[in-house]
Amino acid sequence: MPDEPLVLGIETSCDETGVGLVAGTRLLVDAVASSVDEHARFGGVVPEVASRAHLEAMVPTLQRACREAGVAIADVDAVAVTAGPGLTGALLVGVASAKALAVSLGKPLYGVNHLAAHVSVDQLEHGRLPEPCIALLVSGGHSSLLEVADVTSGVEPLGSTIDDAAGEAFDKVARLLGLPFPGGPYIDRAAREYGEVTIDFPRGLTSGRDLQRHRFDFSFSGLKTAVARWVEARERSGEPVPVGEVAASFQEAVCDVLTQKAVDACRSRGVSDLLLGGGVAANSRLRALAEERADRHGIRVRVPRPGLCTDNGAMVAALGAELVRRGRPASALDLPADSSMPVTTIVA
Ligand code: KG4
Ligand code: ZN
Repeated sequence: MPDEPLVLGIETSCDETGVGLVAGTRLLVDAVASSVDEHARFGGVVPEVASRAHLEAMVPTLQRACREAGVAIADVDAVAVTAGPGLTGALLVGVASAKALAVSLGKPLYGVNHLAAHVSVDQLEHGRLPEPCIALLVSGGHSSLLEVADVTSGVEPLGSTIDDAAGEAFDKVARLLGLPFPGGPYIDRAAREYGEVTIDFPRGLTSGRDLQRHRFDFSFSGLKTAVARWVEARERSGEPVPVGEVAASFQEAVCDVLTQKAVDACRSRGVSDLLLGGGVAANSRLRALAEERADRHGIRVRVPRPGLCTDNGAMVAALGAELVRRGRPASALDLPADSSMPVTTIVA
């Protein structure tokens, strides 16, 4: 293998068809086709619709990626693909495409864990990953705190959501407030414009007793219900619902818990680097609060730019390149798609 392996990454675990090309830690191209608009009227991702969209977008997105990077597909040293976790039908499209490419090119295939890929992507922007680090991954499909000793072989889950994912909570509350899907960016903007926190919404799993059992876990369903009750009461009173005010206070409750637990995880493990990832890591308040709190304890925060936080193929390529560099074995060609792949399995 060359020092700087050229790796193709394919991501289809949810509603983004992502194809990325990476040479070592250098990003060559990150081509993404999203089916998000097709799901908007349902208020959430419809698995069947996502799978069909992947099937249609895969080859054009692959061709666009190669063209924009000025790379011939035959030059690729390895193919990496998200094998899980994610929507089964959506994953199958990516895994089948990656197998076809790997077989026809005669190159190794790495079926990788989506969460570890979210962690790896930061290398493309800020240089080699600090290991160990704590990763807070928050998106529409997952909310996890991970201790990463080695992103290619040693990722330990510290906690995760016991109900809704953080992004899901943003999307559901946005819907209550009449904002479009996906709601995260709209809540972020409305909250920023309103500019203050006035409603004391509940912080899930932060009380003394909850902390004993769920120190690093999250729960957002109580918060979501509290927001719904607040909005209903306001509607019953005949007064207009103050969208910015509710958005700001809801967002603060989510970011407060996420950053508290992430910093606590760093301190309890004696780790001084915190990495944020996933679509919700694009949230401006989450970034600011994480930096403010981490800074107090001498913890450094790394957050990839928003385009690399949301699902994309470059993150899969980044992890693939790291696997090649560290000489990890490739996957077998009968590799399955695993919708509930545990984060402790980094390569299937
Ligand atoms: O990682 P991602 O693109 O897809 C997965 O769900 O895996 O994340 C999408 C999620 C959505 O729930 C969206 O509302 C949320 O990320 N999101 C945000 C922001 N931008 C995207 N949430 C809060 N603030 C944002 N600025
Ligand atoms: Zn994701």
